Amino acid sequence: MLLLKEVVDSCTGGRDGPPLTRDSLGRFSKSGEAAMPGGHDDFHDEMARAWDVVARETYRGEFDDHVALLRAGQHNLLEPEVATLLPLLRGSHVVHLQCSHGLDTLGLLNAGARPVVGIDISAEMIAQAREKAVAANLSAEFLCADAADPPPKLSGTADIVYTGRGAVPWIPDLGRWAAAVRRLLCPGGHLFLFEGHPLDALWDRDADHLILRTGMNYFNDNAREHPGFPASVVQRELGEDRPRMLERCWRPGQVIDALLVAELSLVHFREYPTQFWDQFPNWPAGIRSSLPHTFSVVARRADAGE
Ligand SMILES: C[S@@+](CC[C@H](N)C(=O)[O-])C[C@H]1O[C@@H](n2cnc3c(N)ncnc32)[C@H](O)[C@@H]1O
Repeated sequence: MLLLKEVVDSCTGGRDGPPLTRDSLGRFSKSGEAAMPGGHDDFHDEMARAWDVVARETYRGEFDDHVALLRAGQHNLLEPEVATLLPLLRGSHVVHLQCSHGLDTLGLLNAGARPVVGIDISAEMIAQAREKAVAANLSAEFLCADAADPPPKLSGTADIVYTGRGAVPWIPDLGRWAAAVRRLLCPGGHLFLFEGHPLDALWDRDADHLILRTGMNYFNDNAREHPGFPASVVQRELGEDRPRMLERCWRPGQVIDALLVAELSLVHFREYPTQFWDQFPNWPAGIRSSLPHTFSVVARRADAGE
C-alpha cells in the first residue's frame, strides 16, 4: 500500500533553486549550478573535501576485503552489467568516471578490459585506489579530476566510458558531463552507465512498507542533501562546519537528453529491480521486486559519415 504522507514541492521545480533549462540551441544552461554554493569550482572543492572524509572513514576499512576479491581474479559487476557490458569489455580501453576507491575499476581488469583509467574528484579515494592496485598486483592509472573536466590527454582514448552506481547524482551539470563523456570516447566508442533509479529517493528507507518521504517530488530538479550515508559520515566527523553533500535525482530522461544533446546515439535504455545496495532493509521482497531500483544506458559516439 502506498501511503502519501505529504508532497510540498510543485511539479515544475520545487523550492530550492531554478530548474535545469536549455537555451535556443538545445544546450543545457548553467542554471543548475546556481543552486550550488559559489559556482562550479567551489562546489568541486566542497565535494572533494566531503568525499575525502568518506574515503577515510568508510572505505579504508574495506581495503583488505577488496584486495582479496581482486586477487581472486573476481570483479564486482552486477547481473545487468554482466549482460550488457561484459561482452564489450575484452581488450577495451576503459575510462571509469567517479571511480571512488578503485574496486570496480580494478575489477574491470579482471573482467578483460585493458587498459583502465579511473577518475575521481577525491584525492583520498585516488590514493586508496592506487594502493589497492599495488596490493592486488594489478596495473591501472588513477587520476584525481572532475568527471565533467577530465584530463585532455584522455580525449578520444576510451572504447568504453564506464560510470554509475551512485555517480551521476553528484554531477551538478549534466550537459557539461555529457560533453566530457563524448570527448573521452573514441569514434565508435560506447558510454555504459548503470545507475540508481531516481524513484528510490522518494521512498522512506526505514519503513516496512511503501511510504513516500515527506516533501519528495520525482520532478524536483534541485540539489538537496539526503539524510543518511554519505552525508551522515561527514556530519559525524566534521560537525556543523562541514561541506554539504548536495545531490540531484536526475531522471533517466534527463540523462538521455543530455547525451543526445552531446551528439551521442542512444543504443539502449533499461530499468531493473536489481539493487546495488540494500536501501530498504525492512521491505518485503514483493515490494522490492515490483519497482525499478536501477537503470542502464548505453550510448555510442557515432561520428559524421557513419
Ligand atoms: C558513491 S561513489 C560511486 C562509486 C562508484 N560506483 C564506484 O564504487 O566505483 C561517488 C564517487 O563520486 C566521486 N565524485 C563526486 N563528484 C565527482 C565529480 N564531479 N567528479 C569526479 N568524481 C566525483 C566521489 O568522490 C565518490 O568517489
